[in-house]
Amino acid sequence: MPSIAALVVAAGSGSRAGRDRPKQYVPVAGRPLLRHSLEAFLAHPRVDVVQAVIGAGHEELFAAATAGLALPAPVRGGATRQQSVHAGLQALAARPGGAPDVVLIHDAARPFLPAALIDALIDALEEHPGVIPALPVVDTIKRVDARGIIVETPPRDALRAAQTPQAFRFSDILAAHRAAADTGTEFSDDAAVAEHAGLAVAVIDGAAQLRKVTHAEDFDWAEDMARKLGLAT
Ligand code: CTP
Ligand code: MG
Repeated sequence: MPSIAALVVAAGSGSRAGRDRPKQYVPVAGRPLLRHSLEAFLAHPRVDVVQAVIGAGHEELFAAATAGLALPAPVRGGATRQQSVHAGLQALAARPGGAPDVVLIHDAARPFLPAALIDALIDALEEHPGVIPALPVVDTIKRVDARGIIVETPPRDALRAAQTPQAFRFSDILAAHRAAADTGTEFSDDAAVAEHAGLAVAVIDGAAQLRKVTHAEDFDWAEDMARKLGLAT
């Protein structure tokens, strides 16, 4: 059986959410946002270790948010999400038991993680070095230039909106992140880091419940979803 790590990145400042603290520490259904996905990974029988990456100065917030959970010490993140993921991957590589075989890289800002999706991602890694959940897009997407003039309308059938967790064979994604860091380019998700390294990344069906809490109104959505999922306290 492969050893499987979950890497939950929570080192952002949550500026667009406009709350009194970073959004990952705001309670949803009575528990801090990031605790939901940490608990989902911890409860999953195939996940061996759950590593969190947190922002400088967030140590006390994190300790309070994760009281009682069986987690290794959090890793300090970086100025960008990509840097935070890279730091987390390096910490996993240096674990006493050795690097994991598989890593599921997840945004702390996506609290509602279906267990069946974790299984589907892990299973699909037997066929592909990388697998991500994604949804079809409902709007027509435009590519625009610096003046806001449309330069392209890609066919919608071929477009997907990427979510997390994004699953990879560990050594592949660590090497891809090292290479990406050397280029100095900023990639918006780990699949893009993998693509840049030439890895074939497959897409499987995502889920509406995997939506990312980004803006203030997304907390209303999250409370509703928690109720629908039976998670309200
Ligand atoms: N993240 C991170 N390190 C960073 C930036 C982001 O670990 N330097 C994490 C966030 O904590 C979040 C995920 O990456 O779980 C997705 O990022 P996003 O939704 O953009 O969160 P923030 O960057 O915190 O929010 P904002 O962009 O509104 O400031
Ligand atoms: Mg951000």
